[in-house]
Order: sequence, then C-alpha cells, then structure tokens
Amino acid sequence: MKPLKLLKLQSVLAGAIAIAFCLIALSSYAQGKKTLTLATSPDYPPYEYKDTAVSGNEIIGFDIDIAKYITQELGYELKVIGMDFNGLIPALQAGRADLVMAGMTPTAERKKNVDFSDLYYEAKNTIVANKGSNFTKAEDLVAKKVGVQLGSIQQEAVKKMTGVQAIPLNKIPDIIQEIKSNRIAAGVIEDTVAAGYAAANPDLEFNTIPNTEESGSAIAFPKNSKLVPEFNRVLKQMKDSGKIKELATKWFSRPIAQETDPANTPAPSPKLGLDFGKIGPNLPYILGGIGVTLTFTLLSAFLGFLWGIVLSLFKISSIKPLAWFGNAYTSIFRGTPLILQLTLVYFATPQLTGYNISALQAGVITFFLNSGAYISETIRAGIQAVDKGQKEAAESLGVPYKQMMGDIILPQALKNILPALVNESIALLKDSALVSVIGVEDLLRRATIVGAEKYIYFEPLIFVGAIYYLMVLSLTWGANVLERRLQTSS
Ligand code: ARG
Repeated sequence: MKPLKLLKLQSVLAGAIAIAFCLIALSSYAQGKKTLTLATSPDYPPYEYKDTAVSGNEIIGFDIDIAKYITQELGYELKVIGMDFNGLIPALQAGRADLVMAGMTPTAERKKNVDFSDLYYEAKNTIVANKGSNFTKAEDLVAKKVGVQLGSIQQEAVKKMTGVQAIPLNKIPDIIQEIKSNRIAAGVIEDTVAAGYAAANPDLEFNTIPNTEESGSAIAFPKNSKLVPEFNRVLKQMKDSGKIKELATKWFSRPIAQETDPANTPAPSPKLGLDFGKIGPNLPYILGGIGVTLTFTLLSAFLGFLWGIVLSLFKISSIKPLAWFGNAYTSIFRGTPLILQLTLVYFATPQLTGYNISALQAGVITFFLNSGAYISETIRAGIQAVDKGQKEAAESLGVPYKQMMGDIILPQALKNILPALVNESIALLKDSALVSVIGVEDLLRRATIVGAEKYIYFEPLIFVGAIYYLMVLSLTWGANVLERRLQTSS
C-alpha cells in the first residue's frame, strides 16, 4: 500500500474514533456528583410505572416516592432508569446502578448476589385470570399454562407447583395481554399489582393464593454497599413516623391510569376492533421517539460508512495484517447476532472499563461497528467492480494514486453501490428498534410503554409501524432522486 493512501486511511480512522469519543465524553460530562442511580422495572403500578400522558417520561410510583424521600434526607440526587425486571440484579453487579427498587423480594438466592435493606412493604401472591375462571388455589392450575414475570419470585413459586406449566414473560402487561387473548390460562402476580390491573380490566378477576409465603419488598444494593445502613436508618424513621403508611395510602388506594371519561361510559369493552383514540393524549410522547430513532440511525449510518471505507481499504490492501484484520473483523461482526453485541457492549463496558456507558452510546457504538462490517464488503466489491482498464489507463497517463482513487475509481464505485448503501440504511433504521431492549426510548419502546400503560397492544404498535414505514419511504425516495442525479451527471 502506498504511504499516501495509508496516511489518508489513518486520518479517516482517527476521525471516526475521535467522533465516537467526543460523543462519549459529552454525555458523561453532564452527570453531577453524588447522584445515586436507581434502576427499576416500570411495569408494576402502583410501585413503579409511567403515566406518559400526565408525567411524560418520568417513572412514578410508591417505590420512587420512598427513594426520593430517603435520598433527599441523606442529601443525594436521584436518577431513575428503567429496564426489564430480569436485568436489575445484573445492573447492580455491573455497576450500572447504585440501588434497585422494584417491589423486589429479598430471597436467599438473590442475597448471594446483592445486599438488601430491611423490608418496607409486605405482599401476597394472587392468581389473575379471565372472569369466571374461578382459580383460587394452586391445584386449580394443574395442566394449565400460567404466566409469570421472568426472574421474579412468582416464577419460582409456579415452578414449585406440580403439574403447572410456567410461562415466563418480560413484563406484567405481557402477562395480562396473554390472559386476555386466552393464550395462557392465568398469571401469578402480587396482590396490589393484580388489584390495579383487574380494576383497569373489568374482564379479569384475581384471588389470593392461600398459605402463600409472604413476599415483601426491600431495596437492593451492590454487595457491600455502604448505603445499606444509611438507607435502613431512614426507612426505620419513615416507618415510625407513619410516612410509609401515608405513601402506601396515596399509591395503593388510587386507581391506576385509565382515561375513562365518566360522562361517556364506554360500551361493554368489545374484544374486537381497534381504538386509536386511546393513544391520543400520548401522541406527543410517541412522536418524540422519531427524533431519537433518527438521531440514532443517522449517527450510526454516518460513522458506519466511514468505518466501512476504512475497513474496505484494509481488505484490498497489500499489507497482510491489515487485510487480515479487516476480514477477521467482518467475519466476527457478521457471524454473531446484533442483539448479542448490543447487550455485551451495554453490560460489559462498565464492568470492564469502569465507564458507565449510556444506552444510547452503547447503541450507536454497536450499530456503527456492526454496520461498518457490512458496508465494508459492499464498498470493497464496488471498488473491485470498476473496470480494471480505467486503473491501467490512469496509471499509464501518470495520474497519481490519490487522484485516481478520489476522482475516478471511488465516484464510480459509490454510484454503483448506492442502492446497496440505501438498503443498509433502511436496515439500520428498522434495526434501531433493537435498542429498545436496553431501554433507549426510541419509537418502538415508546409504543410499548404507552401500550403497557393503557393496556392496549395493537394501536400504538400499528401507529409506530406506520411511522417507520413512512421514514423508510422517504429514505427510498431521497435515494432515488440522488441516483437519478448521479446517472444524468455521468
Ligand atoms: N416481588 C416479586 C419479586 O421480587 C415481583 C417484583 C416485580 N417487580 C417489578 N417491578 N416488575 O420477584
């Protein structure tokens, strides 16, 4: 490889890396000191949930109020982040959060991995099912499919019931939805939470399981956290002063978010049909996801493109180690699932480097690293497809390498691979929905949040489906215009 080419290549590479680091630095800067990060699974009203029509993005609930009270007493700032329940303990272990409040029961198994505060609330398990099922005890569930939250003590409880098939699902609203569509017979859910969902879904009923082990909630911390005694002290004070009771009354006696207009009582809920009116008040919140999805896609596509050029030059380079690196890299990134790469980057980075990478950063980094691998193949093929004679002609005319590549080969290559690049960007735009699993509030995640809150599944999903489709259409249209321009200009 010519030195000049190598130099150019290095500067592109350096540029891409610099941009990535700036991104990281920028967002870590904003974090003040003495902020405690609370992780929770906001699918558990009234303990923790979102009411996007009222409080927007904010997670609210009984647990959050307690956390706010304690941190205020102790002089900390509080930051609340949401994720799936089964990700909470790993989050503590990876140092992503300082505490977890999620109606979490301190079981022996969990105590091996994290420390707990004293109990702050008691609860019992119930069986939730469609009206008229009349399931009152474990025996009634024999030979039936029973939904439970993945990683919860309810999952363990149902596993212990002989002859009952436990179906672990990520979120409580998933369980409710599966019951309503008769895919599972029942769900095992804690009493206060079950009561809320049953109140919001008149076609459901729930019964407390007799002799069920008491399950209470406590705050979880990383092993040996110094926060435990401080928190216990304030918890005790809250119990003694009646503050916990007061908060419990506030949250447990209030009906959970449901916009039933008393003046206009709905007709007996039809099981068929869609009602888009229900998501009306949440539209601003959902539409806000467009910006997130677009920022994410554009950043990843841009960085991925730069990185793809670098990798493709590596691959056609005569320097063996570079070519080898380019090929090995592509092989690994194409050979493993994107979602695996994403979760690895998100969860392993804090553990390996101590840097608390945000979900958005983890998303952008994974996606540009991944799409760089694909794009590099496309660009390599594009360069190699340009007629050899042109290169020879340029060389015999004495055109310098840099000029030949920049003015003759690359423009033709890019024109030929434009459709492939557009394909890649479309894929990126849609795949960006994967970041919702690590909690980035992109379009898809916002739709699921609103769905969970309103107990509806299809309307928000269909709505954001249409938005994705419109975005892809505009992208295709833009690419067509560009292609036609390039065609006529040649
Ligand atoms: N108390 C149960 C447990 O510890 C369920 C808690 C579920 N919490 C939630 N935020 N979804 O396993």
